[in-house]
Amino acid sequence: MHRLDIDPDLALARTPPAWLYTDRAVHEVLRRRVWRPGWTLLLEPPAAKDATLVPCDLSGEPAVLVRDDAGERLLSNVCTHRAATILDAPCRGEILRCPYHGRRFRTDGSVAAAPGFDAALGPDDALPRFASSSVGPLSFGALEPGLPFDAWWAPIDEALGFAGRSADELRYDPRGDITHDLDVPWLLYLENYLEAFHIPFVHPELSRTLSLENYEHELFAHGTLQLGIAREEQAAFLPTYGRHAGKRVGAFWFWLWPATLVNVYPWGLSMNRIDDAGFGRARIHYRAFVWDESLRGVGAGGALDIVEQQDQSVARRAWSGLQGSTYRRGRYSPTHERGLHHFHRLLEDALG
Ligand code: FES
Ligand SMILES: [Fe+2]
Repeated sequence: MHRLDIDPDLALARTPPAWLYTDRAVHEVLRRRVWRPGWTLLLEPPAAKDATLVPCDLSGEPAVLVRDDAGERLLSNVCTHRAATILDAPCRGEILRCPYHGRRFRTDGSVAAAPGFDAALGPDDALPRFASSSVGPLSFGALEPGLPFDAWWAPIDEALGFAGRSADELRYDPRGDITHDLDVPWLLYLENYLEAFHIPFVHPELSRTLSLENYEHELFAHGTLQLGIAREEQAAFLPTYGRHAGKRVGAFWFWLWPATLVNVYPWGLSMNRIDDAGFGRARIHYRAFVWDESLRGVGAGGALDIVEQQDQSVARRAWSGLQGSTYRRGRYSPTHERGLHHFHRLLEDALG
């Protein structure tokens, strides 16, 4: 494996070479080293609210979220006999029954019955269990978490405090479910999110809501925060304490490693989950969680669909260019691309 060689000094650093995006072997390495340890938002099918067993997708891994009196846990949805997926739709129940040869599992994953097997089955016949956690109406999972959930979510918690809000007030709005399939690597989509440099060039509507000269960037160990300062007349949070006190915050835009975007707007949270959908492909899932319906459609969190199309179009341009032969390593804008540099440094660590 080649090294990314991202200089720690932003002024000297060069952006990644084209092979990061165009080499299929590198794509496979990223799948193992970046995605497996990462927390991700669980996408639940609609109408799952009263169900105790909910199938969901965990970074491409079929999973079942169990919610009952004993709490919440996340199991594999893959039968330990011959790998059939077990549950297709949310339901109420205490047993998971494999439709292929009838093996039954309890909601702790242990085998309850296994037709055709006289000898007792061992612990490795139980359904594997994954890490899970929830905040308000949001549920998250990880295959092999690289850090505890609370540490991962802590920057968002802090921002909700500044905003005078709590995740428990959020209400899931299924009308906000949107999926975008893109013919670009997930890396390019995320990289575009990590800098505001492009906003005046790509997003005229968004530019009008923000005071871009006051835009702020914060880096933390496993992500970044971009603070969109609202213009005078635009919807905003007005933090009364902490380092953002006195600012008109139109949006807290968080990226959490590896690929969760948490956009905190005066109306609520727009969660974006970026999936690696195979080599050269990404899938973006939007989910909306609302505090204040009356603020939907205004300010920095207003025209989300237009902004999305604009972002996708520039990510496609970068992908076309990377597949040509002339691109060499670029340079980072020291004033605008600190977050991007931070991401590439974390990526370098993950790639080893
Ligand atoms: S695959 Fe599930 S019982 Fe055979
Ligand atoms: Fe953008």
